[in-house]
Amino acid sequence: MRPLIDVNGLHFSYLNENFGKEVLNDLNFSIQQGEFIAIVGHNGSGKSTLAKLFNAIFLPTSGTIFIDGIDTLNKELIFEIRKQVGVVFQNPDNQIVATLVEEDVAFAPENLSVSQEKIGEIVDLALEMVDMKKFKKSAVHNLSGGQKQRVAIAGILAMNPKCIVFDEPTSMLDPVGRKEVLDVMKKLNRENKTTIINITHHMEEVVFANRVIVMKDGEILKQDTPRNIFSDQDLLKKSGLLVPQVTEFLNTLCSELALKKRTVLDVDECVEALAEVLGGEKIGDN
Ligand SMILES: Nc1ncnc2c1ncn2[C@@H]1O[C@H](COP(=O)(O)OP(=O)(O)OP(=O)(O)O)[C@@H](O)[C@H]1O
Ligand SMILES: [Mg+2]
Repeated sequence: MRPLIDVNGLHFSYLNENFGKEVLNDLNFSIQQGEFIAIVGHNGSGKSTLAKLFNAIFLPTSGTIFIDGIDTLNKELIFEIRKQVGVVFQNPDNQIVATLVEEDVAFAPENLSVSQEKIGEIVDLALEMVDMKKFKKSAVHNLSGGQKQRVAIAGILAMNPKCIVFDEPTSMLDPVGRKEVLDVMKKLNRENKTTIINITHHMEEVVFANRVIVMKDGEILKQDTPRNIFSDQDLLKKSGLLVPQVTEFLNTLCSELALKKRTVLDVDECVEALAEVLGGEKIGDN
């Protein structure tokens, strides 16, 4: 099957004071429609730059990126590319253009000269997807960070994209807001088969991906499942990545008890492993 995103021999340098410094150095990978990808890596590894190359905000210095078969260098089809790949950034305040929720979500279809009746349908559907329909008539500035970020996502959904790239969308949010946004990503991937690319520093979010791309200094160190990534000690050391807290907890326990290591990804897996470690013995306060 033709990949939704196909990156070949991609190099990128900024055309300013950093000119000549390879920010992305020979990236080669593809992403299929419906995948849930996490991109992780230390500060400055090139993740945000890559996000902007996915929807042709930046263009390759050399090499190519094809989006659903369209070369991002094809200027005539740039609008088509931007419709297919939406990007949600860190700060929702920079992405929201209107005062009222419904006006903001209607912004893109209005610019596409969609009929008013159809716009109403699109706005309702998009707000429903992110569970914000009841705030349709609300002023954006009264919303919480997580709610604003969900309005920004609805604005992108109004263009019916095949892929949404999230560039650290939860880093300015509290735990509640972070969960709200993550739940939307999971729902879009599950119900709409939207391809999700989540760039994140939160390792707890990485476990929901089917594939993790680990970057360092403009290169891809490894792409694999979350479990294989979190059990690769050399990689973790090399990339300076931490593992989720539950993974760390069980690692430490196993090494303390001189047991063979097992990589768990969530609380349920950790509880299951603990039950085995404890051999069914009852523990309690009494
Ligand atoms: N507008 C710019 N002009 C010149 N250099 C830039 C620009 N934006 C980023 N860079 C440089 O490009 C490299 C990659 O930056 P980028 O922001 O893509 O990394 P990142 O992985 O997203 O980092 P972070 O985790 O901090 O968000 C860094 O060395 C950075 O200093
Ligand atoms: Mg970044």
